[in-house]
Amino acid sequence: MIIYSRNRRLRVNQSIRDLMRETILTTDDFMLPIFITEGKNIKENIPSMPGIHRHSLDLTIKEIKELWSLGIKAVNLYVKVNDKLKDNTGKEAWNKNGLMQDTIKAIKDAVPEMIVMPDVALDPYSIYGHDGIVEDGKILNDTTVEALVKMSVSHAEAGADFIAPSDMMDGRVAAIREALEENGFPNVGIMSYAAKYASSFYGPFRDALDSAPGFGDKKTYQMDYGNSREAINEAIKDIDEGADMIMVKPGLPFLDIVSKLNEIVDVPISVYQVSGEYAMIKAAAQNGWLDNDKIIIESLTCIKRAGASLISTYFAKEAAKLLNK
Ligand code: PBG
Repeated sequence: MIIYSRNRRLRVNQSIRDLMRETILTTDDFMLPIFITEGKNIKENIPSMPGIHRHSLDLTIKEIKELWSLGIKAVNLYVKVNDKLKDNTGKEAWNKNGLMQDTIKAIKDAVPEMIVMPDVALDPYSIYGHDGIVEDGKILNDTTVEALVKMSVSHAEAGADFIAPSDMMDGRVAAIREALEENGFPNVGIMSYAAKYASSFYGPFRDALDSAPGFGDKKTYQMDYGNSREAINEAIKDIDEGADMIMVKPGLPFLDIVSKLNEIVDVPISVYQVSGEYAMIKAAAQNGWLDNDKIIIESLTCIKRAGASLISTYFAKEAAKLLNK
């Protein structure tokens, strides 16, 4: 039997496989989402995210130094806000001395080269757990954008490198860009969560921040997972409005969106491998049903192959250790 084209020739041994590999994961691909809580010397477990914790600011700084030494160069910040500070205006979100602002300052003081991307959305500050201001059971768009602008400027004043709006209100990228320019922050960038789907994969994150919506769901602002066209529309609008990078979220179940956007847009695409994806992999690994280390590297490599320039993942630290080995 003569077979002229044997595809297996390029897979015969590890050396040729290494030479043929198109997608190579490095620690430069990662951002780590971190959860910060009030207090001192606090490290709290999040039961639905084994291995991930909420840290107080002092321990967060220790963690940041370790992340930097592992080669991780960016973090996404999320704060757990004290119930007493929550209301329906979100005003704690732009408190100059709020937990988020203090955290940004402390990280930039401790490790100035670490890229800091604080989350912009009202849900951790909202008595309703919604990303915007609520009136008569509806999430107001334009009033919320005004609040997000104040929040963004306060993050820039604290030293944020990128503003990261995850709220899915219309018109917020342009409003934030304008405010940054007007307030003297031309070099502060915007990474917009442009294609963010209304997803049940966010459950463990809402446990971590105690931010689950108190009524209804987020389907009037986050996208329907049955759709792909509107992801393109959202991305193009955000880029037109001044986004330096866009994000697709969740990750693995939405890689068709990443791949499509990668053909169309000319800004870097980041992908968020979200809390539910982390929880699924960890649960299976803890049961001995999947190989933890191999699944981490495979899932992240596949996200990069689909077109991600950056991956926000709770596995960043574990993956960095594996890659550094
Ligand atoms: C809220 C926000 C959410 C996530 C990031 N920012 C939750 C939500 O929209 O309800 C989810 C991230 C994750 O699940 O890891 N603005």
